[in-house]
Amino acid sequence: MAAETTSVPSSFTSSLREDRIFPPPAEFASQASIRSREQYDALYRRSIEDSDAFWAEQAQLLDWFQPFHTVLEWNVPHAKWFTGGTLNLCYNAVDRHAKGARASKTALIWEGEPGEVRSLTYEELHIEVQRFANVLKNLGVKKGDRVAIYMGVSPEIVLAVLACARLGAVHNVVFGGFAAHALADRMADSECRVLITQDAGFRRGQEVPLKSIADEAVERTPGVEHVLVYRRCGREVPMKEGRDHWLHEELAKVSSECPAEPMDSEDPLFILYTSGTTGKPKGLVHTTAGYGLGTMLTSKYIFDLQEQDVYWCTADVGWITGHSYVVYGPLLNGATALLYEGAPNWPEVDRFWDIVDRHKVSIFYTAPTAIRAFMKWGAEHVRKHSLSTLRLLGTVGEPINPEAWMWYHREIGHERCPIVDTWWQTETGSIMIAPIPGAVATKPGSATLPFFGVLPEIVTKEGEPVPPGHGGLLVIRKPWPAMARTIYGNPDRYQAAYWSEIPGSYFTGDGARRDEDGYFWLMGRVDDVLNVSGHRLGTMEIESALVAHTKVTEAAIVGRPDDLKGEGIVAFVSVVDGTEVDKSLADELKKFVAKEIGALARPDEIRFTQALPKTRSGKIMRRLLRELAATGDVKGDTTTLEDFSVVAKLKEKDEE
Ligand code: WTA
Repeated sequence: MAAETTSVPSSFTSSLREDRIFPPPAEFASQASIRSREQYDALYRRSIEDSDAFWAEQAQLLDWFQPFHTVLEWNVPHAKWFTGGTLNLCYNAVDRHAKGARASKTALIWEGEPGEVRSLTYEELHIEVQRFANVLKNLGVKKGDRVAIYMGVSPEIVLAVLACARLGAVHNVVFGGFAAHALADRMADSECRVLITQDAGFRRGQEVPLKSIADEAVERTPGVEHVLVYRRCGREVPMKEGRDHWLHEELAKVSSECPAEPMDSEDPLFILYTSGTTGKPKGLVHTTAGYGLGTMLTSKYIFDLQEQDVYWCTADVGWITGHSYVVYGPLLNGATALLYEGAPNWPEVDRFWDIVDRHKVSIFYTAPTAIRAFMKWGAEHVRKHSLSTLRLLGTVGEPINPEAWMWYHREIGHERCPIVDTWWQTETGSIMIAPIPGAVATKPGSATLPFFGVLPEIVTKEGEPVPPGHGGLLVIRKPWPAMARTIYGNPDRYQAAYWSEIPGSYFTGDGARRDEDGYFWLMGRVDDVLNVSGHRLGTMEIESALVAHTKVTEAAIVGRPDDLKGEGIVAFVSVVDGTEVDKSLADELKKFVAKEIGALARPDEIRFTQALPKTRSGKIMRRLLRELAATGDVKGDTTTLEDFSVVAKLKEKDEE
């Protein structure tokens, strides 16, 4: 199979310069667990030069049922970490904190969008997760089974995830914003037997009918035998006899004792689907020990978690950020994590800041797209709140523009809180490049330096190192514990997508440059993956959805820069001869995509064309389409068919 990439855009070499430097604030550094650049450098050097010893030592942060005998077996691209060891991540995230001093410590604080608040101590979490696991057991779930989870953000989704981990079942969380078709594909591909969902969820004052979407998906997925339904909204939903079960009724039948299954280090923990360039979404498989250690260690050092922190990552559990930094990372460290169900602008645009003050949040982790939205809504809404409990800020998901970074620093961090810009991916499992906040000076827009054990490099398409200041492809030269192990059911695709472009190295699909200080500046994807509001989408998925519409013959999706969302979605569409093109057809197609994939994939703009511009060899001229979408060099009128054949002829040489 062909590798999933293209070339480095030429704009990468002429990127902006940013000279501001922010050293770690002295007060922060004096209390941080890593408090000087020298300390970071020494640990980093050891993690690279003596990596087995480094990781063997760090792995003691986890509780093992059986110790491992080998740190790493590396047979490109197959890594096995901590072989011979057995452990359970639910035990590590819950049980070990539920005894002793942390038993009465708050593990989760949850706020629903309508305003109710619930919290659970580690002791309570321990009881609830065992009951939840027993419910799954009664449905026949056992080690190795795949369980789909399609829910909103609540303590119940955390319990669902951890209950799977407790039994050794492999969770496959599907973001609640995905449509029935997308859910069905993911459940079918991972051969799920059980689905956990809820009646509905609250979003911006509306109820999202999760159960009825799930019903539609399950109709198309005969392998799903049981559907477990959490009653969140008290909505009347049809329950299918023998297949559907109310969670609260099942919980009433079970005991609160359920031992944690000993898992081999390399036993799969979860499958999470993400978009690539070609084909359908990929089910990345993460395994137990390496993922657990990676998320635990990065949370500990990059968020500098301390015993009294209230930590809030605003991501949905349905994305990798939610897996690693809402659920596993904080709980493995015995931290207090806040969960919020709803939208940042409900009922007002200051909801987040209201939450920060009321719950005394000290660490806050969000996406640049959210920061840009707050900027647009106006600092006056932020200034109504004190935000005095905050001590550390983080960002993730897309490059942060220096303006947004400075605004975050000033308006949210009050020039007191370090900002950790964290670069990583679904595939990497845990954060790869980010400042250690008490040790590394930050520069607005740079993710700064690699985490321990991570060896990134910028290279040309041929794999040659690129000198400082120049753009190139970001690759990782060494295996790391939390790396994905394979694509579920498709090891060849795993090899082709990540390990064939630059042989022997992990190919990230991102462009980047490194400056004279060794800092990394991420420049966005070099392939056809879009990043819309920090959500990753494949152009192919949206194109397939469009061509499923009876009036569409061909479609090409490209991204265009968007001030708020990072990237907007533009669809170039050719239609069946004789079809009248007008605004209502454009609207119909936008709705169609939202219905097929989910609202997150809805195109911002539809451009009708007689034919898609293609090279002589038949490839769609995507670079040309990107240029056209970005410059608006099209008629700007959805009622006319564009003819790109002339401009395509002129550009053909560039694209071949
Ligand atoms: C992008 C999200 C710049 C990048 C954790 C990557 C970033 C993709 C950053 C992965 C960052 C993530 N700076 N770009 N700090 N963080 N990205 O799999 O293009 O949803 O390849 O994982 O998001 O998206 P994914």
